[in-house]
Amino acid sequence: MIEFTVNGERRSLDASPDTPLLWAIRDHLQLTGTKFGCGIAACGACTVHLDGNAVRSCQIPLSSVQGSHVTTIEGLHTREAQAVRAAWVEHQVPQCGYCQSGQIMSASALLKSNPKPSDGDIDAFMAGNICRCGTYPRIRAAIHEAAHALAKEA
Ligand code: FES
Ligand code: FES
Repeated sequence: MIEFTVNGERRSLDASPDTPLLWAIRDHLQLTGTKFGCGIAACGACTVHLDGNAVRSCQIPLSSVQGSHVTTIEGLHTREAQAVRAAWVEHQVPQCGYCQSGQIMSASALLKSNPKPSDGDIDAFMAGNICRCGTYPRIRAAIHEAAHALAKEA
């Protein structure tokens, strides 16, 4: 039995320890906002926060999250996430939308660790989040806007 916290709720899962966290989230907990893209840590669609850090859940075995705090897009309510969501709407970032929960998880983690990222900082941090629709310019603009909004309210 693996016990961990997901979006603030204690959960116990009777699953194989080598089950990828992504499958636990989607299939066992029915939190389907986190997406499967590649399964090999190459696309970022499966990004969640593990103890506050953005990670690729397709590569995290369930055994390694024992006692940890996992946040998915459904439970992401930090001030950074609120600013990111508002900027995403303002800039109409999504196209098909498939990659976007991963993009928002990464963008929120970026602003938490770096409140005023440069273009280079954004490109480096977001490099692991692939968007087949090529929304990168809007993602970058929205992150800058979210950073400005957060600085104004600080
Ligand atoms: S599904 Fe995990 S990085 Fe692509
Ligand atoms: S919005 Fe379509 S893959 Fe990113």
